[in-house]
Amino acid sequence: MTNLTQRRLLRGRILDFKRAPVNEDDKAAYSYITDGAILISNGKIEATGTYATLASTAPDAQVIDHRPHLLMPGFIDTHVHFPQVQVIASWGSQLLDWLNNYTFPEETRFADSSHSSAMAEHFFDLLTSHGTTTAVAYCSVHSTSVDAYFTEAARRNMCIIGGKVMMDRNAPEALLDTPQTGYDDSKVLIEKWHRKGRAYYAITPRFAITSTPEQLEMAGALVAEHPDCFVQTHLSENHDEIAFTAELYPDAPDYLGVYEKYGLLTPKMLLGHSIHLTPREIDLLAESQAKPVFCPTSNLFLGSGLFDDAGLRERGIINAIATDIGAGTSYSMLQTLNEGYKILQLQNQKLHPLAAFHWITRGNAEALGLTDRIGTLEAGSDADIVVLDARATPAMDLRMQRAETLSEELFILQMLGDDRTIDEVYVAGKSVKRATARKQKAA
Ligand code: GUN
Ligand code: ZN
Repeated sequence: MTNLTQRRLLRGRILDFKRAPVNEDDKAAYSYITDGAILISNGKIEATGTYATLASTAPDAQVIDHRPHLLMPGFIDTHVHFPQVQVIASWGSQLLDWLNNYTFPEETRFADSSHSSAMAEHFFDLLTSHGTTTAVAYCSVHSTSVDAYFTEAARRNMCIIGGKVMMDRNAPEALLDTPQTGYDDSKVLIEKWHRKGRAYYAITPRFAITSTPEQLEMAGALVAEHPDCFVQTHLSENHDEIAFTAELYPDAPDYLGVYEKYGLLTPKMLLGHSIHLTPREIDLLAESQAKPVFCPTSNLFLGSGLFDDAGLRERGIINAIATDIGAGTSYSMLQTLNEGYKILQLQNQKLHPLAAFHWITRGNAEALGLTDRIGTLEAGSDADIVVLDARATPAMDLRMQRAETLSEELFILQMLGDDRTIDEVYVAGKSVKRATARKQKAA
C-alpha cells in the first residue's frame, strides 16, 4: 500500500512545458532536466528540479528511481466515449451508419448499472495503462452510466470530466430522453458530481442530429445556469451529418449556428472533430473561444476528413487533441499523435515532437482551462505523472541506438509508442500502472 503522506522523490529525466513551442528550436518553451526529480506529497507536486537539489532539501523523502526513463505530466484525452469500450474496431462504415449499426445498440446496455460499473473499471484501467490521467468523456443517455463513471474515477482519485449525453430523437427508443428529462437528469448529475473531489461535469448534447430544438434550448438553459460546467458536443465531422443537420435546422446559417442560437458557445465548450468548417464558423470559433477537438485516429477510421490545425491556430483558436474511442482506434495519446502527424503531413503541415508532447499535456490542459492543476509539473500541481520508456519494444530499442537528441527520442515515442512505452503512471501521487498489472496477474 502506498503511504501518500510520505514525501517521495521520483528520479529520472524530467520534461515539462512552460508554453507552446513556436518551433523546434524553442528551448525556452520547456524545461528538460537530465538528472531531475519531482518531489510529491499528499497527491501534489511540492517541487520539480535537479535531483541533487531536491535530495538535499528533502532528505527524508523516499526515492523512487526511474532512471533512465523520461517523466512528464500525465496525458490528457479531451474527447472519448466511455460506453464505446466494446465498440472500438467495429468494421466498415462512415459516421451515421456506424452510429446506427454499432454504437447506439451498444450504448443501450449502459441502462444497467452493473454493466456500467464493470465497464468503468475496464475503461479507467485502459486509460491509465496508456498514460492518460485525465479524460473528458461522453457517458450514455442513462444516469446509471454517469454514476458508474464518476464513482470509479473518484475511487481512483482521478481528475475526470464527463456528462450524460442528451438525445431525444434519431436514435433507438431505449436511448432517448426528452427535453425535460434530459434537463432534469443533467441537473441532478451536476449537483451530484461537479467539482466533487477532482471531478467536473460537462453538459453534453450529443450533436444537433439527436436533439430537437426544444432539447437544445434546455441544454442552453443548463449552460446559463451552470457557467462553471464544461459543454461538449460534435461539429462538422462528416458531409452526410452536415447535410442532415441542415435539413433538421433549415433556418440555421450553418452547423455551428445551431449551437450558437441555443447559447451553447462558450470558452468552456469542446467541439469534437470540427473538420468541414465555413469561414463564418471559423470566425465564430475565434470569437467565442470554443475549442475544436482534433481526433486523428477516428477521422481516419471513419474516413471523416482532415482537420486543419494550422488554419485554426492562425486565427488564435486553441485546438485540443483526443482519441475519440470508440471511433478512435487506440487509447494511446502517443498513437493519436502518430496519426495526427500523418493527417497534418497530407496538408503540408508539421507536427514537431516538442509541439506534439506539449499538446497532449499542457496544451490540452490549457484548452480545458486547468493548467493550475494538470498538464504541468509545476509546484502546486496535482501529481499526475507518466514515466516513458523509449526502448520498450525491440523496434524502438533498435531505433533509439541511433537517436542523439531529446527531439529524436520524443519523435520515436510519438510514432512508435503505445501502452508498452508507459512504464509507470502516478495519479495524484499514487502509483497505478504497476499496481494494476500486479492485480491483473494475480487474478
Ligand atoms: N457524433 C455523434 N455521436 C458520435 C459518436 O459517438 N462518435 C463520433 N465519432 N461522432 C459522433
Ligand atoms: Zn465523439
